[in-house]
Amino acid sequence: MAIRTCIFDAYGTLFDVAAAARAVAAEPERAEFACAWPRIAAHWRAKQLQYTWLRAVMNRHCDFWQVTQDGLDWALEAEGFADEALRARLLQLYWELEAFEEVQETLQILKDEGLTIAILSNGAPPMLEAAITSAGIGSLLDDVLSVESVGVFKPAESVYDLVGARFGCARGTVLFVSSNGWDAAAAAGYGFRTVWVNRAGEPMDRLPHRPHHVLADLSGVPALVTPST
Ligand code: LAC
Repeated sequence: MAIRTCIFDAYGTLFDVAAAARAVAAEPERAEFACAWPRIAAHWRAKQLQYTWLRAVMNRHCDFWQVTQDGLDWALEAEGFADEALRARLLQLYWELEAFEEVQETLQILKDEGLTIAILSNGAPPMLEAAITSAGIGSLLDDVLSVESVGVFKPAESVYDLVGARFGCARGTVLFVSSNGWDAAAAAGYGFRTVWVNRAGEPMDRLPHRPHHVLADLSGVPALVTPST
């Protein structure tokens, strides 16, 4: 079946989740943070995601901005940082995260091909809007779908249902692109065609389903979306 709809995960896929900590590490008078930032960024992301999964199974939803703050607080405490100004600066930069360098061009190619393009993300709508605006990609997107409309985080099936509900497309005509291996695997199980953008060269997640394609970045996505796909 031909792919007519390309759906992108946001954080880690379009937006560089390490960019906030990396940028703060480069600021003046941050020598201590400059040594610790890679560990803090890794803890931050890991805890943020763990809290989404735990809250989903506990049926205790909150929005993604809350788990983003909770994950950061855990990470800063784990690395011995108690600094409100540092916390505030990291959150400010997370709000307006940079996009990866190939994002704009990749989305433009897909748009020129006439595909429907949207984001499907755990992110709360105001966070997504801020990141999309700072990345300058709003005009390339047909819509931005947030888990907030179903009140549960990925990989709940009701989240993936948002795509068909919005665009009226069959599952097999959707290409779902995520840098999160577990998200790409779950979406493959749901019935989407899937791409795992394995930027970090990680091992494949041992889950019941596997992504259909693995790419190192987004630049290979348009080649997957041809009339014969
Ligand atoms: C998202 C997270 C999973 O954007 O990165 O949905």
